[in-house]
Amino acid sequence: MKHYAIAVIAGDGIGPEVMEQGLHVLRTLERVHGGISFETTAFDWNCRYYLRHGMMMPADGLEILKDFDAILLGAIGSPDVPDHISVWELILPIRRTFQQYVNLRPIKLLRGLASPLRGKGHEQLDFVVVRENTEGEYSNMGGRLHSGTPYELAVQNSVFTRFGIERVVRYAFSLAAGAGKRRLAVATKSNGINYTMPFWDEVVLELSRDYPRIETRLYHIDALAAAFVERPEQFEVVVASNLFGDILTDLGAALVGGLGLAPSGNINPEKRYPSMFEPIHGSAPDIAGKGIANPLAQIWSISMMLDHLGHRDLGRLVLDSIEDVLLKGEVRTPDIGGTATTREMGEAIARQLESNA
Ligand code: NAI
Ligand code: MG
Repeated sequence: MKHYAIAVIAGDGIGPEVMEQGLHVLRTLERVHGGISFETTAFDWNCRYYLRHGMMMPADGLEILKDFDAILLGAIGSPDVPDHISVWELILPIRRTFQQYVNLRPIKLLRGLASPLRGKGHEQLDFVVVRENTEGEYSNMGGRLHSGTPYELAVQNSVFTRFGIERVVRYAFSLAAGAGKRRLAVATKSNGINYTMPFWDEVVLELSRDYPRIETRLYHIDALAAAFVERPEQFEVVVASNLFGDILTDLGAALVGGLGLAPSGNINPEKRYPSMFEPIHGSAPDIAGKGIANPLAQIWSISMMLDHLGHRDLGRLVLDSIEDVLLKGEVRTPDIGGTATTREMGEAIARQLESNA
């Protein structure tokens, strides 16, 4: 019996609603598999916790999480708590302390869904974005000066380290090489940002010599955004800095079915620390409590977790089950053109998984 300890932070708003369905699918997988178990431990660290305790998680929260095999996150954020508190005091400390320096985001149009791009089907839309997740533009270094005067100013530094660039770019190259891909697209802006981006390009080109079979191509971020829309079929693996990757992946999500479907993995490739899997959407206060949130991003994030834990066959099984339900087209939440509830969608995937297993 293979055994895993999973920390579950359902979070706020629709987080607990989609997490419930994700865990339902995970339980179903345990049952049909018979040889694997996921012991889940729920943590109520969210904005309500913050309003009660003045902290997003207890002081030893990271210490508690450290020994889990993986973390599942729903979504964090509430209109009652400023986002810079909820995100900065929960999600970012987890990503940074656990060296989850890769943010992995599949941009894949599942069969049964249509892209808003005319003439682009699932064969044209199937790539993955590797976003740097610990440094770059989201550095928390800078300051404000002369507040309330006409000379008021703000400075925010971008921090790029050789160590940080090398490890994420190397991950992208080896991901491409391991999957038999031939191309790596690299987001840059060295024609406009004249210190950090030329440095980033230099390190990329140095590393590319270790991967002669992979064609490395640098794209300025503006042209890359246009190419995502015009020629998405040319991408296999894309690597980008923190900010560029953040923007690109929301664009990518919009090309393949929207936020309700888009998952992500915050990965510590060395597996020294737990990795964290989550939908990329937030807590969606506008639909929270209505029972209509799409749980597919959360369920897909569990598929990514299974891949990361070394069970690619099970990750595939979960993703195939999602795809089969979409292909049948009978059960869909409103965001993808149906009338199903969150629960109906989760139950449909679980039933499909049982029959696929
Ligand atoms: P959001 O992703 O929560 O919602 C944007 C829009 O997409 C809304 O109209 C929402 O109804 C819809 N949507 C999102 N997920 C959906 C799903 N699963 N099914 C159907 N529709 C869905 O982004 P928003 O409104 O900007 O942020 C709300 C809160 O979430 C904020 O507090 C924000 O800081 C937080 N947030 C948290 C994230 C995280 O936990 N990683 C990521 C993004 C935002
Ligand atoms: Mg984003």
